[in-house]
Amino acid sequence: MSETVFAPPEPSPFGLPAQPAGSAVPVIELRGVTRIYSTGRLEVAALRGVDLDVWPGDFLAIVGPSGSGKSTMMNIIGCLDRPTAGSYRLGGTPVEQLSDDDLARVRGRAIGFVFQSFNLLPRTSALENVATPLLYQGVSRKERHARAQAALERLGLGDRLEHEPSELSGGQQQRVAIARALVTEPALILADEPTGNLDSTSGADVIKILHELNAAGTTIVLITHDLDVAEHARRQVHVRDGLLVQ
Ligand SMILES: Nc1ncnc2c1ncn2[C@@H]1O[C@H](COP(=O)(O)OP(=O)(O)O)[C@@H](O)[C@H]1O
Ligand SMILES: [Mg+2]
Repeated sequence: MSETVFAPPEPSPFGLPAQPAGSAVPVIELRGVTRIYSTGRLEVAALRGVDLDVWPGDFLAIVGPSGSGKSTMMNIIGCLDRPTAGSYRLGGTPVEQLSDDDLARVRGRAIGFVFQSFNLLPRTSALENVATPLLYQGVSRKERHARAQAALERLGLGDRLEHEPSELSGGQQQRVAIARALVTEPALILADEPTGNLDSTSGADVIKILHELNAAGTTIVLITHDLDVAEHARRQVHVRDGLLVQ
């Protein structure tokens, strides 16, 4: 596997996105991406030829109504699923040429995920939840805990390290999930409806955190059906019935 896949992005001194210039390579390059689900006798074309470039430092919102194909796009961009046709280059590397193991490795190293439903491990402390992705990278226990603690402190949860998800508010749980997404220092954060289960204040906090991460150089792709949430991104694309529309 090429080692160019994911150099960490250079933080821009002004918090502006890196421009697509010279030798720069898009973080995400989708060409004609199609995903057809076959469920026995039914076929659903969830994506029908999507072209998309996302450049380092971008903060993109993918916007569309329920059922339009957003989560399918997120799964493909996040290497959790593969297109049935078309090509996807992640940091310049054609994903279709990677084995499932390589794909899992790239995913773990390069991408942080944030989901609507937080997806934290139940009956497990915030610290252990955040430390878990580092386990798969062979980081020592001591360093895992130090980095998890630092990530939680960065998100204002330094006094909640030993709390389990059921002992935290929704907004706090989502901040734990964001700490878990960023503890591996991914070049890309993919957030699928991250404010969907939150009250407006907690939702605004999450958006603010995404902005701070973006200003520090992380590329953000935010998936939402909510136009008000999408407004906060630097750039929007709209998806309808599996196609990007203007
Ligand atoms: N695993 C699946 N099997 C069959 N159809 C699916 C599957 N996942 C999604 N779909 C269908 O694909 C379309 C897009 O779904 P999805 O990507 O989840 O949309 P969104 O996230 O925008 O709500 C929908 O019609 C949905 O019913
Ligand atoms: Mg969805």
